[in-house]
This record gives sequence, structure tokens and C-alpha cells, in this order.
Amino acid sequence: MNRRKDSFYHKAKNAGFRSRASFKILEIQEKFELLQEGDLVLEIGSSPGGWTQIIREITGETVVSVDVEKMEPIPGIIFIKSNVFNRELEGKLKEILAELGRDHFDAILSDAMVKTSGDRNIDHSSSYLLCRRVMELADEFLEQDGKAIVKQFQGDMTEEFFREWARKYRFKKKTTPKASRSGSSELYMIFAGKRKGRITHSQKA
Ligand SMILES: C[S@@+](CC[C@H](N)C(=O)[O-])C[C@H]1O[C@@H](n2cnc3c(N)ncnc32)[C@H](O)[C@@H]1O
Repeated sequence: MNRRKDSFYHKAKNAGFRSRASFKILEIQEKFELLQEGDLVLEIGSSPGGWTQIIREITGETVVSVDVEKMEPIPGIIFIKSNVFNRELEGKLKEILAELGRDHFDAILSDAMVKTSGDRNIDHSSSYLLCRRVMELADEFLEQDGKAIVKQFQGDMTEEFFREWARKYRFKKKTTPKASRSGSSELYMIFAGKRKGRITHSQKA
């Protein structure tokens, strides 16, 4: 175990956070102040719930969290146990929005990742596909002016991915929090100020 992992792990435990990943969202929030009180957030890849705890604390609102693995309940959280690629997810999200009396989410956050294989190309490909799916959900479910944070394990398609989706948002940035494990290729893409209307693939090229 490296020393950095050790210190963040113990810090998270002492602070009552469910995971060391909590420090990443705290750092991103401190830097970009993306989330606001009252924001309705859709979170992808939420388990065990470290980010969820922080999001709920900042927004004070319902958080809709999705993970293929189970997650212990957190008050104020609607948890959907589902693979993000499951096409039934869209219907479920529409139902929840209707119950909440809303049309869209204010923010979509994704820390989703499969267990890393150690092979950077394989990890990049899995991560790329997850990110693309999350950004497609953002296209459909995010409010105009909405914001998104997506984690990607870097590789040869990262720059193109970033450029392509950045066109739909007025603010775009990449960041790597200190709490990321040393040697990890992960980065977080921050998008805010979603532009009005759909930008088609040909417009993006
Ligand atoms: C790094 S963990 C998230 C940690 C979380 N942000 C926290 O603070 O506790 C990544 C999560 O992504 C989930 N995940 C991976 N692939 C997924 C998929 N296709 N659909 C939904 N969740 C997925 C994993 O089950 C795992 O719980």
C-alpha cells in the first residue's frame, strides 16, 4: 500500500466518509464550485457512496445515484441498482423526474469505472465507453446551463473525446485531484453551461 493511499484512506475513515474518493469531489468542488445548494444531481457509479454523501451535503437536495453494485442506503438518496448501459435506465430516470416534479437534472456526475485491469489501453477503452454513455445521458437529461463531471482513464482517445463534448458547454476543463492514486491515469473532465439545443455529430466533427 503506498503512503498516499494510506493517508487518504485513514482521513476518509476519520471523517466518516464511505470512501477515499470523497476527497476527489471535495477538491473538485473547492476548485470549480460547480455544485450549488438546491441542485438536483444524477450520479453514475456511486457505490459505496463517498461522493453521494458530499453531494447531498452540498446540495441539500435529493440525489439520484446509479451503480451496478449495491449501495447501503443514505437518507435523501434515490438509489437505482443498474448497469448504466441498461436501456431501461432512461425510463426509470423519467419516472423519478416526474415524481420529483422536474424535467431535467442540474448536474450529472460520474466516477464510474470497472475494476482496472492494469493494462492502460483496456482500462482506457472501458472508461471511454462509460464516459460516452454518461455524456449521452447528459445530452438527454441535463438542464440547459447544466454541468457534468466525468472521470476518464486517459488514453489515445481522451483529447478527441474532450474536444468533441466540450463544444456543447461554455466552460470545460480537465483536472486531476491530489487524492487520485499516484501513477493512476485518471482525470476528471468538467463541463458547465450546457448550450441550448442538440449539437449533431457532424457539427461536432
Ligand atoms: C471508483 S467507484 C466509485 C466510488 C464512489 N464515487 C464513491 O465515492 O464511493 C466506481 C463505481 O463504478 C461502478 N460501475 C462500473 N461500471 C458501471 C456500470 N456499467 N454501470 C454502473 N456502475 C458502474 C462500480 O460498480 C463502482 O462502484
